[in-house]
Amino acid sequence: MKLFLDTAHLTEIQTMWDIGILDGVTTNPSLVAKEGRKFDDVLKEITALGIPSVSAEVVATDTDGMLAEGRRLREIHPSIYVKCPMTPAGLKATKILASEGTRVNMTLVFSANQALLAAKVGAAYVSPFIGRLDDISEVGMELIEDVVQIYRNYSFATEVLVASVRHPIHVLEAAKIGADICTMPYAVMEKLVQHPLTDIGLARFLADWQKVPKG
Ligand code: E4P
Repeated sequence: MKLFLDTAHLTEIQTMWDIGILDGVTTNPSLVAKEGRKFDDVLKEITALGIPSVSAEVVATDTDGMLAEGRRLREIHPSIYVKCPMTPAGLKATKILASEGTRVNMTLVFSANQALLAAKVGAAYVSPFIGRLDDISEVGMELIEDVVQIYRNYSFATEVLVASVRHPIHVLEAAKIGADICTMPYAVMEKLVQHPLTDIGLARFLADWQKVPKG
């Protein structure tokens, strides 16, 4: 499973990229707004790191506007995936952009039928938002199970990108189901690395090493 960071914060991206566990980055208008910087500048800096997949979202709500924004975004760097929302206009824009060779990440997906439509119009990624479903007392991970099964049934090439991840158990469950990608906040990716027994074990090894005769 590929691991993406859901952030527009360059330092966070750089840190995980340097460790070597990062496969891509997803952004959205809210994450970009938090940085207080120009969208294009942020995208140029992220892509300059060599990140192979960087999702950048359109904000137009009509097809023509999405097409114009999507075409402009993809020109910024070849690793950019254009995010279009799951609306009729977004589906139409996705089909056209995909036919032009642009890789589209269909976002704001909350049902298996929406995911089926994303695959049918040729989206490269589909992004079901599981945390926001959990927030309204629906089990978000059940949606991932359904989408993975449907895509397998028909051998769709669209990759399932698990989004709106809140904690490491989401990542674990997504991997067990066989989702293609999981995007998560920096704090969640940090927690994937950590285990208290690793820290205790390392401290004990280092303490015992002091007792080994040297020289
Ligand atoms: C994914 O592409 C989205 O940006 C993201 O996962 C949304 O997460 P949130 O529900 O925590 O805002």
